[in-house]
Amino acid sequence: MNIVVLGPPGVGKGTYAKRLSEILKIPHISTGDMLREEIKKGSELGRKVKGYVERGELVPDEIMIEVIKERISQRDCEKGFILDGFPRTLKQAQALDSITKIDIALNFLAPKEVIIERLSGRRICKRCGAIYHIKNMPPKRPGVCDICGGPLYQREDDKPEVIERRLEVYKNTMKPVEDYYRDKGILITIDASAGVEEVVKSCLKVLKEKGLLSD
Ligand code: AP5
Repeated sequence: MNIVVLGPPGVGKGTYAKRLSEILKIPHISTGDMLREEIKKGSELGRKVKGYVERGELVPDEIMIEVIKERISQRDCEKGFILDGFPRTLKQAQALDSITKIDIALNFLAPKEVIIERLSGRRICKRCGAIYHIKNMPPKRPGVCDICGGPLYQREDDKPEVIERRLEVYKNTMKPVEDYYRDKGILITIDASAGVEEVVKSCLKVLKEKGLLSD
């Protein structure tokens, strides 16, 4: 089953995709995580994309399409994948269709105040990438990951001025992508203003209704 998850920065795409990946046993592929990893390593790709990511701008399509082509050709994607953060432009959506077939696009939505609150309180484990929130999903010990004991940090692009820029970029670029999947009849809007477990339940319900998942 090939799923793409769409929605504004901070709506919870990574959180839900990680949970769905465990349940459905298919990999969660986050282009944002992949880019941050390359930046951390200081690789050639990391040096190319660093400025875009830190300013909250989109990385050029040519680069992103190559990254995804390579990633989804790997063996762990044979039974499907959950793509988080790609496509972000119409060109990326069309390129993805030329590589593989997408079964469903889950479009998560929540009010702007909820999103800003989620992004400003987000903390991530430096070692394993687990996502926390200082109020909504706090770790047992402040600043320490429950899963691996690694240190938690705040993303560079979760600073207030970059958050605003990311939301603006999203507003200006995602409509054609949503329309693209709507026209194909595979865009499903999910209300992401509820708690995590409730949102994940809504996703599973939709997958069952669409015949993509048996009971
Ligand atoms: P990326 O990493 O994809 O960032 P994003 O889309 O801005 O999304 P986020 O990761 O910020 O948010 P999320 O929706 O996953 O929320 P999360 O689950 O963490 O991209 C970063 C950058 O990379 C881009 O700006 C761009 O430069 C570049 N890039 C990446 N892909 C690209 C592409 N295809 N083309 C071009 N450039 C690209 O949740 C947020 C917080 O809320 C967490 O603290 C969580 O604990 C909490 N939370 C989540 N859900 C709930 C809930 N239901 N209730 C309470 N709290 C919740």
